[in-house]
Amino acid sequence: MTYVLVRIADEADWRAYHDIRRLVLWEERGLGSYDEARPEERLPDHHPLLLRFNARACGTTRLDDLRDGTGIVRLVAISAALRGQEHGRVLDARVADYAGKLGIRTLFVNAAADAVGFYAATGWERFEGYRPQAAERADECVPMRKVIVR
Ligand SMILES: CC(C)(COP(=O)(O)OP(=O)(O)OC[C@H]1O[C@@H](n2cnc3c(N)ncnc32)[C@H](O)[C@@H]1OP(=O)(O)O)[C@@H](O)C(=O)NCCC(=O)NCCS
Repeated sequence: MTYVLVRIADEADWRAYHDIRRLVLWEERGLGSYDEARPEERLPDHHPLLLRFNARACGTTRLDDLRDGTGIVRLVAISAALRGQEHGRVLDARVADYAGKLGIRTLFVNAAADAVGFYAATGWERFEGYRPQAAERADECVPMRKVIVR
């Protein structure tokens, strides 16, 4: 079993990244108008990330480095057919490792209410002290924090 976490580097990566996000976080939730062209995807301190399992894209997230030792994890998604097989746990661990190498010590997430159990199982805690800005449905999200142990 081989996992690789990559920062999106080419058009094939972008295609896989957007396909997973659109399906998981928009279409599965009955939402339309997923926009692939949002400028924040391409900012230098924003890291769009793709997890591959045995060379197959299985999950995505974006890590926003706030350059103050903290970062925000956004839009975590594992393809529906691959859930419940620990890919999410691996993605979470690899992202924490990637963040640590950037000098990030604390991560924040706006957790979807039905994903709070996943975050709790992977070392996150509820934290009201900082609420990452979220474009949509922020009131339905639970702010959580993870301290990266090195
Ligand atoms: C949430 C998500 C990323 C989890 O990925 P996954 O690959 O299914 O999770 P894993 O199999 O690695 O599970 C890791 C642990 O979290 C738990 N878990 C996973 N999803 C859970 C959920 N929705 N509620 C409670 N616990 C959950 C698992 O039981 C497991 O715990 P255990 O090892 O103690 O048994 C995935 O279900 C997903 O993409 N969901 C839709 C999008 C979403 O909600 N994203 C979060 C946006 S903030």
